[in-house]
Amino acid sequence: MKIVVADDLPASALHVLRNESGWTVEAGTWQSRGDLIACLADADALMVRSATRVDAELLGAAPRLRVVARAGTGVDNVDVTAASARGVLVVNAPGANSISVAEHACALMLALARSVPAADRAMKEGRWDKRRFVGTELRGKTLGVVGLGRIGQAVVYRARAFGMQVVAHDPYISVEIAGGLGARLLSLDEVCAAADYLTLHLPSTPETRHLLNDERFAKCKRGIRIINTARGGLIDDHALIEALQNGRLAGAGIDVLRNEPPREGNPLLEVDLPNLIVTPHNAWASRQAMQTLADQLIDNLEAFVSGSPQNLV
Ligand code: MLT
Repeated sequence: MKIVVADDLPASALHVLRNESGWTVEAGTWQSRGDLIACLADADALMVRSATRVDAELLGAAPRLRVVARAGTGVDNVDVTAASARGVLVVNAPGANSISVAEHACALMLALARSVPAADRAMKEGRWDKRRFVGTELRGKTLGVVGLGRIGQAVVYRARAFGMQVVAHDPYISVEIAGGLGARLLSLDEVCAAADYLTLHLPSTPETRHLLNDERFAKCKRGIRIINTARGGLIDDHALIEALQNGRLAGAGIDVLRNEPPREGNPLLEVDLPNLIVTPHNAWASRQAMQTLADQLIDNLEAFVSGSPQNLV
């Protein structure tokens, strides 16, 4: 079985694939998409993270391909319909990084509440601005969670430990499950109107594109802080910047951009706003998550080879 690993993989997963699986592994960074496509001519399996676009063209160039394994949760870079039409299974590794993403969302919330990056910058510029950096507690604040899947639920659990009240929006979850977590289910607009912090945990689809835009920000409680560790396309960047500048939003902690890596620039990186924190889509990346991810990838491939595929998308 020949596996093509098109994006960076945790080293431990590559090690197992190369040394213990008995499979032929081709991993690396291809000079061009054309080179990758050429390499897929006799591939049985393709492993990707989020960089490689697995579309009909790429699938069409891989006549032997039987499985696409996504090293992560989101499959917005994989055309699942085109894969299914060719009989190619798509599997992912859900849950491997949920806790890491949830912890990062909390880190961004705390960093915003206590102006950690701005205070750090002031210190390193030689300013002891103790009075300027009076923060606010999370205790007693309302957190709005959009998307109550694994990550959203892990955030709710942690937010409750901070003494926050939680309201949530998720059309696919029952009132009982939400209630069991201690979250009150509301419509999206009601969540936006009630929340002091709003955190996004839903996939990027044509329906969720620019979920947060000018119109939605206008419905948000004034002074809300937004956290996005899900996907860049969920927020209209220009609307976000404007809402930060006109004070409707008190802050934003953003881990994901609509274009990654932002080679041709990104508006969020071009404004210098102390209440806008941006991290490089590393919410998911912890040593523990990488190990779990590596284990799940190998399990997924072994299950596929044994004829009982798991984690099908
Ligand atoms: C995921 O979807 O698993 C995370 O956002 C990490 C990634 O995109 O690789």
